[in-house]
Amino acid sequence: MRYRPYESADFEPLYAIEEACFELPQRFPRTYMRRILASRTGAAWVAEDECGLAGFAVSSLRKTRDAQVAYIETIEVLEDRRGQGIGGELLVRIEESARAAAADAIALHVDTENVTAIRLYEAAGYKQTGREANFYPDRRPALVYCKPLSSRSGDC
Ligand SMILES: CC(C)(COP(=O)(O)OP(=O)(O)OC[C@H]1O[C@@H](n2cnc3c(N)ncnc32)[C@H](O)[C@@H]1OP(=O)(O)O)[C@@H](O)C(=O)NCCC(=O)NCCS
Repeated sequence: MRYRPYESADFEPLYAIEEACFELPQRFPRTYMRRILASRTGAAWVAEDECGLAGFAVSSLRKTRDAQVAYIETIEVLEDRRGQGIGGELLVRIEESARAAAADAIALHVDTENVTAIRLYEAAGYKQTGREANFYPDRRPALVYCKPLSSRSGDC
């Protein structure tokens, strides 16, 4: 498996993964996906082999008054390619990009019932810092997870 930064030519195969992983209304609209992928402050990585893209991850950078926080928009791996470490490798690369962008912490929302993703984040050192009701378009709740990347991250 090869991991490399997203390029604009990857958009269609990347969005096909989004369509395979998420049903409407949870799926990111194409316009939103294009916007976060085009962000200059965020990061996007793809996992690719001879069969094509197997997964991707996208983050953005959010400035608060006291800190810069990288935000994981999504990490997605095709169902038949899961359980081989691809999600974990994408997560490592997104964190490296966040550190390179001088982020103090990295955070994300995850569906309360997405046990696979929650295990991945907890194994990588993320701690639950909150819960938000009605977070998703279908009003499902989300857990907030965060991981400090610098000593300035405070309570994350
Ligand atoms: C969450 C998601 C990205 C994880 O991707 P993944 O590639 O399966 O992740 P990994 O393979 O790194 O880790 C998953 C499991 O495989 C195990 N694993 C990692 N490398 C392995 C290997 N070489 N051999 C066997 N198992 C391995 C991990 O230990 C982990 O096991 P656990 O669940 O028992 O802790 C994937 O399930 C997914 O795309 N889900 C749908 C989209 C989604 O919900 N994304 C999250 C949005 S917040």
